[in-house]
Amino acid sequence: MRTDKADILAWLRNSEDYVSGQQLCDRFGVSRTAVWKVINQLKEEGYQVESVSRKGYRLVEAPADAFCASEIASRLKTRWAGRNLHFLASTGSTNSDAKHFAEEGEPHGTVVAADSQTAGRGRRGRSWASPKGTSIYFTIVVRPAFTPDKASMITLVAALGVAQAIEETTGLTAQIKWPNDIVVHRKKVCGILTEMSITPEMDEIQFVVAGVGVNTNHNSVEDFPEEIRETATSLKIESGKHIDRAGLLERILARFEENYDIFVTTGDLSALRKAYQAHLINMDAQVRVLDPAGEYTGTARGITETGELIVERETGESVLVYAGEVSVRGLYGYV
Ligand code: BTN
Repeated sequence: MRTDKADILAWLRNSEDYVSGQQLCDRFGVSRTAVWKVINQLKEEGYQVESVSRKGYRLVEAPADAFCASEIASRLKTRWAGRNLHFLASTGSTNSDAKHFAEEGEPHGTVVAADSQTAGRGRRGRSWASPKGTSIYFTIVVRPAFTPDKASMITLVAALGVAQAIEETTGLTAQIKWPNDIVVHRKKVCGILTEMSITPEMDEIQFVVAGVGVNTNHNSVEDFPEEIRETATSLKIESGKHIDRAGLLERILARFEENYDIFVTTGDLSALRKAYQAHLINMDAQVRVLDPAGEYTGTARGITETGELIVERETGESVLVYAGEVSVRGLYGYV
């Protein structure tokens, strides 16, 4: 939930000058004592807040890598994404939590974020290693008014937003391995797990949750489980810089909201296809399609307006690959 603390922090953060205690009381309808308590709490959490008599308060510095409810909420610029926010220091899986909150009726845009997960889930029944202090783990709930067959496009919408946000925040080039892995320098920095709940009649979506894990501040590949060391990396390893997680999450949610609103306006990916393909690492590249009915190779030629990968086989025939049914690899490895 957005708290007084987050509101006061946002106000301080966005003010260039001192903010008087009275201004804060009037703005948020709270007492002087309540303001004073929040300022003290912020100081205890490591925020440097300067208090000058007759002038008021000024935020000098936030603690390095603050990743908590008030820090995230105070930075949000979105209309709906993350405005209902749950932050947990540790949880099983933010996807499971988000589904629970969605079932309880929490609104479109609800976000569950965590500093660590004890049962993080990946695609195809795999686990997602989720140690504390290194990464972003969050899940967003959306309640689209369209039929279940369109839900898989939300994963591509999310992937585009994450790639754009990583580029804005780190200056790295982020690419998408269809449909929804984000790669930097050909190694995976982010995975997305989308899950859907449909009505008993199976004709309407109740909600979709999109769970995002971004490998952010791992110092070296040794920090990853052995089985993924060849293919995984972190933004810090690739950029050489420590990444502010709350700032990156703010950008991801802003880009997600923007892309999602475009997506629901058109009802497909037609208006996002160009941007998605500009990030697509498989574009015009040789791919191996691991189809349970038989593996084949070809050249990826982009995506359709509904998100399928277009693969041109050696025979010249174009086939559409549907996400979820098959995986796609490079000819010689992960991409
Ligand atoms: C993949 O296998 O690539 C998808 C990984 C998705 C991981 C994220 S972390 C936040 C959310 N909670 C989970 O349990 N999984 C997703």
